[in-house]
Parts: sequence; C-alpha cells; structure tokens
Amino acid sequence: MKAPGQKSLFPDLCEGVVSPKPVNVASVPQRSPFRYPGGKTWFVPTFRDWIKNQYPKPEILIEPFAGGGIISLTALFEKFVSRVIMAEIDEDIAAVWQSVVDGHAEWIAKKILSFELTKESVIDEISRTGVDVREKAFQTILKNRTFHGGILAEGSGFLKYGENGKGIRSRWYPVTLSRRFSNLRLIADRILFCREDGLEVIQEYSQRKDVVFFIDPPYTAGGKRAGKRLYRHFKLDHERLFKLCGSVKGDFLMTYDNADEVKAMARNHGFQMRLIPMTNTHHATMQELVIGKDLSWMDRYTAVHEQTAEYKTEGKKKEAPAKRSSGRGKPPR
Ligand SMILES: C[S@@+](CC[C@H](N)C(=O)[O-])C[C@H]1O[C@@H](n2cnc3c(N)ncnc32)[C@H](O)[C@@H]1O
Repeated sequence: MKAPGQKSLFPDLCEGVVSPKPVNVASVPQRSPFRYPGGKTWFVPTFRDWIKNQYPKPEILIEPFAGGGIISLTALFEKFVSRVIMAEIDEDIAAVWQSVVDGHAEWIAKKILSFELTKESVIDEISRTGVDVREKAFQTILKNRTFHGGILAEGSGFLKYGENGKGIRSRWYPVTLSRRFSNLRLIADRILFCREDGLEVIQEYSQRKDVVFFIDPPYTAGGKRAGKRLYRHFKLDHERLFKLCGSVKGDFLMTYDNADEVKAMARNHGFQMRLIPMTNTHHATMQELVIGKDLSWMDRYTAVHEQTAEYKTEGKKKEAPAKRSSGRGKPPR
C-alpha cells in the first residue's frame, strides 16, 4: 500500500524517464539455479521499483507460482522483506526448493562439481527411481540444464546443438551453478516452501496486511498458448485467481501475457494494467502485462502502447519500440 498523496519515497529514482527498451538481463544478478522457461529475471528492476514503494515495508513476500524463484531470491538477498513463502506444484521443481530449505544446498553444489556430464551419464542419472528429495533435486537441475529451453514438461528432449554447437553441455556451467547453490544457504532459513496449489496459498494469507504477493501464473488464460508447452501444470482457474487478488488486504503485482481474456478479467475486477517490453528466448521484443491495484509508481516509465505504427516528431521519423534486441552481453542463465 502507498501512503496517501505520496509521490515517491525515492525521488532520485524519478529523475529522467526509464527507457521502454527491454531490460538487459546481464545487468541483473542471476541468483536462481534454474534456467526457467517464462522466468522473470528481466522483471527484477520493475519488481524492485514496486517493492521499494511499499509503505509500510512488508514483512513477507509470497510467490504462489514460484518456478525458478528469481523474484523471491532477489527479495531476500536485497533485503526487501524478512521472509518469503514460495509455492510450486510441480514435483521436480518442488524437490529443488524443498532441498534448499532442508539444508541440502551444499550437497547439491558438490554433486554438481563432481558430475561428469555426458549424454549417457545424464540418462543414467535421471532414470534412477526411488531417489530421495536431494537426489531428485539434482536430477531436476540436470534436466533443466540439458533439456531444450530448460523445459521439463512432457515432450521435452535433450538440447541438440545448444550454444556454439556444444550440444547437451552448452547450458552446464558447473562452477557457476554450484556457487548459486552455495549462496542459497545464506537465505534458506528465511524461505518457507510449500508444494501446494498457489491459489490456496493466496487464500490462506489474503487477510494479512503485512504480506505482498508477486504472482506469475502459467499464461494459459482463454485456452492460450505458451504455458501449455512449458509447464507440466498449466491448468489454472484464472477467474478465481483474479477474484482472490481482489480479496487480498496487502498489495499484489501480477504479470501475464498481453491477452484479451486477461485484460477483460483485470478490468472486471477494477485493477490497473500497464504494458512492459521484454525480450523472449528468440530475441524478439514482446509486450507483457503488469497488473495491480495501483500502478501509479509506473507512471514514470515511458508508456508502452499497443500500436506498433510509426509516428513523426518534428519532421523526423521515429520507430515505435524495436522488434529485436541484439541479445549481446548475456550472462550464463
Ligand atoms: C510462469 S511460471 C513462474 C516463473 C517464475 N516467476 C520464474 O521467474 O521462474 C509458472 C509456474 O507455476 C507453476 N504452477 C502451475 N500451476 C500451479 C498451481 N496451481 N500452484 C502452484 N504452482 C503452479 C508451474 O509449474 C510454473 O513453474
């Protein structure tokens, strides 16, 4: 919640105008061990702007659709909240977060360093059954790093060519990955993880004023596209999600694809919306929706409009937001 009449607690951040170009993810500390499809690393700067403007400072951040969890991890490492609650329904992803919370991050870090990765060794490892939670976590990371697009859903398969023709090894950075797990030990005791339906978790905490929610559901509203291919669990009662958001006492910030069904639900519930540019895995610039109760803190962002038509300024022809980004300077993901 924002204090009445408050412009910004951080006037220095309001100088100038934020460019509507997509965020270069190289500028964002990558703390998640996942290379997550639909991951929100690119959204971190916007998330920071939102949570910094929360007054009073929230105690807990809840991420009911945690996935790779970059927003929760950022909130803890950058001390925006004291605790986070992460919910994720996928068994494999859940094994990773559960292992971190149970104190197995260092075990996974060492296992990553000692693993000799070949296609055969990966197949051997991921076909082991009856494994405990930390071994399952390691299997998940292996799959996430060697499957095409990091996708664990049915129908996914090994990276064929990968980066620079390095095939199955092209996303395997053992030292970096191992360090990310070691670093997670620093915040593990401030994470509450539950393998539950995110909607139930929102409901459970809906009446708490000291809680804020970052909500990034599978993008499947109106029977849509992307989310179905990317996640094992993609079915969601989107209307119920919007209803729950309308009931929360704390603030929430939600991201969605720019779909008519989503905009209609947001309007029906009296929420505000803004478009924000992002670069997808194919380096194309897309627009996603940001939805919340009060998005006036985004007014200083250059407006992103739906039309991509060209327009003129003082005789000069300018183009509306670029369609492609250079993709330069990408860090290991
Ligand atoms: C768009 S992704 C979240 C990505 C995440 N924000 C990140 O940065 O990595 C949505 C996630 O929701 C999970 N999911 C789907 N239905 C769920 C449910 N009912 N409860 C909890 N998680 C769910 C999916 O498995 C997927 O990991």
